Amino acid sequence: MYLKTTAAALALICTAVPAFAQDFTIRLSHGDNETNPTHITAEAFAEKVDEYSDGRIEVKIFPSNQLGSEEEVVRAVRNNTIQAQIPAMANVHPVAPSTGVLLLPYLFSNSDEAHAGLDAILPAMNEKVTEEAGIRFLGILEKGFRVLTNSVRPVETMDDLQGLKIRVPPNEISIETFKSWGLEPVPMGWGEVFTALPQGVIDGQENPYTTAVTSNFYEVQDYITEVHYQIWTGPLLISERFYQGLPEDLQEAVSKAGLEAVQIGREANAEQTQQAMERLKEEGMTLSGAPKDEDAWREAARGIWPNFYSVVGGEEWVNEAMSVIDEAIAK
Ligand code: MLT
Repeated sequence: MYLKTTAAALALICTAVPAFAQDFTIRLSHGDNETNPTHITAEAFAEKVDEYSDGRIEVKIFPSNQLGSEEEVVRAVRNNTIQAQIPAMANVHPVAPSTGVLLLPYLFSNSDEAHAGLDAILPAMNEKVTEEAGIRFLGILEKGFRVLTNSVRPVETMDDLQGLKIRVPPNEISIETFKSWGLEPVPMGWGEVFTALPQGVIDGQENPYTTAVTSNFYEVQDYITEVHYQIWTGPLLISERFYQGLPEDLQEAVSKAGLEAVQIGREANAEQTQQAMERLKEEGMTLSGAPKDEDAWREAARGIWPNFYSVVGGEEWVNEAMSVIDEAIAK
């Protein structure tokens, strides 16, 4: 009788629990649409997590800020309400001050430098952000320079910039950088930019070439200037609480998947950037390259680095981070 009951109960369990049930689910949020390299990174992460965890972890991707603004989601990741995210570093900085060191203007001169520096700083950065914000970076995506777009006039010199209403992410470094060029920028959440541009609330914004295409900004923007002040960086980050709750083999699976996924995202971005520039020209945008007086832009923005030490975790951290980054770049 006992055996019969146990067998019946087992049969019931076997039919009630699907064979493909996962042990863990990661809800991953990002703010771009499904053609952007951010989404390609998210998809690669989902595939690799599935592979390395033997299907024990499922990653569900929520693009286009469906789960909330980038700033809100970073906070939700700390609480493990959402487990993972790929936001712009600029939107992580208000929650995790030490990340600001990667936003200092004119830090990297090109993508290769950025890759070397970002990979080298990862362990030290994780010591900081796990403490500051309860988040862990699995890797850091890079999408090329944030370039300036606007609908009013070509910006070829710092004078041309004056008076334009340019949206920047709501963090102090972006705001102060634009102020160093004599402009009063408009800090605004990323999700609002999509309506603010067509409505003329702002004249322009700054984000990578690929974003100008994937977000259809060419429909409402006419001019692009390649200001080389900041390379778009964004961590593939995970809730530290969630990560610590995983068995060790699954922590390894997730970490490995994260590092490989950002590599795939970086490669996708490099490919898409050339295509994006062609497409933006075809769509009628004027690409004016770097400002003619680029040295003056660099000098003004680099000149205010010391003002930022207090908002990026202190001078000691800046020096430590810079020595790790410089050493990696020199190799
Ligand atoms: C921003 O401008 O807020 C971000 O760069 C948007 C993004 O995450 O791509």
